[in-house]
Amino acid sequence: MLCLVAVALSFVGLATLIVKFAKADGDFTVTSRGPPKREEVEGKVVWITGASRGIGEILANQFAGLGAKVILSARNASELERVKSEIISKYPASSIEVLPLDLASGEESIKEVVKRAESLFSNAGVDFMVHNAAFERPKRKALDETEEGLRATMNINVLGTITLTSLLAPYMLERGRGHFVVMSSAAGKCPAPGQALYSASKHALNGYFHSLRSELYDKGIKVTVVCPGPIETSKSSNVSSSAEGGLKEKRVSSERCAELTIIAATHGLREAWISYQPVLFVMYLVQYMPTLGYWLMDRIGAKRLDAAANKKSAYSWNLLFGQKKSI
Ligand SMILES: NC(=O)c1ccc[n+]([C@@H]2O[C@H](COP(=O)([O-])OP(=O)(O)OC[C@H]3O[C@@H](n4cnc5c(N)ncnc54)[C@H](OP(=O)(O)O)[C@@H]3O)[C@@H](O)[C@H]2O)c1
Repeated sequence: MLCLVAVALSFVGLATLIVKFAKADGDFTVTSRGPPKREEVEGKVVWITGASRGIGEILANQFAGLGAKVILSARNASELERVKSEIISKYPASSIEVLPLDLASGEESIKEVVKRAESLFSNAGVDFMVHNAAFERPKRKALDETEEGLRATMNINVLGTITLTSLLAPYMLERGRGHFVVMSSAAGKCPAPGQALYSASKHALNGYFHSLRSELYDKGIKVTVVCPGPIETSKSSNVSSSAEGGLKEKRVSSERCAELTIIAATHGLREAWISYQPVLFVMYLVQYMPTLGYWLMDRIGAKRLDAAANKKSAYSWNLLFGQKKSI
């Protein structure tokens, strides 16, 4: 009898876990944490790149809502001013500064911007550096990529981001504290057919920042690498609303992505994944059962290129279990 009860409970436990996984919008670690810890960011200086739109704009709003002093960076100064005034109208007591930055402008120019960031809010110094800016090209075959595309992707996503980090980290080390929050991607964990350069740039960031943390952790420097799958932003709305074979592309909202990012950072997580299925499933598979994960990706790759070329969902279960490739 006792045995039967134990078996029944195990089944219930397993079924609950499966349902939870099927509905998850992030990995089990980040989704099991509580809300963002306000005390970790209140009054702190948070510098966000790529804050002129998309996830960066929402991150800026949420950090400001938690009482952080926020520095907004991107190239488009007028969009940054718009984001600033919208945040101030929502949170009148917030402290927001606009600091234009081009990550492709080279070391000397980035050095000046870092000095300026350090001097803002009465020389408070940067507590959180949120590396959110990125360059992403429309999906295309790896062999169709050009050298110009390669340079643009690497200059912004990798060289600019790492240069900024190496110029800012000494200030943080002097203070004995600092936290890099890196907006990577599921494409930084798994193969991303149609996005080979982007995927290469995000893998590079993952490698650099996990290495940096292991070198500087005992000197007070923290790193949180965030790997989102498909996220709903204004640039994705065209694709996400189009049904494909009865299946819609399901994207996590920018608001939830920003919330989980701040949860991951304020709870001190080293890495967090944000996505609905099936991308989350593929991430687990590639991480924990790589032979199976890469085998599966090899079966999806050409179908995904096909779907992207036809403006269909590049993230649906259909790619795994349906739809024949045409190339
Ligand atoms: N959206 C998704 O589905 C998704 C999924 C996984 C990961 N991510 C990652 O999440 C982050 C934000 O994504 P998003 O979709 O919100 O991006 P987005 O809408 O394309 O915005 C990119 C931001 O980066 C800035 N930027 C571009 N080039 C720059 C440069 N040379 N120097 C400085 N800033 C530059 C842009 O501003 P300016 O043009 O004004 O410079 C903009 O604010 C990125 O790192 C992306 O890779 C996004």
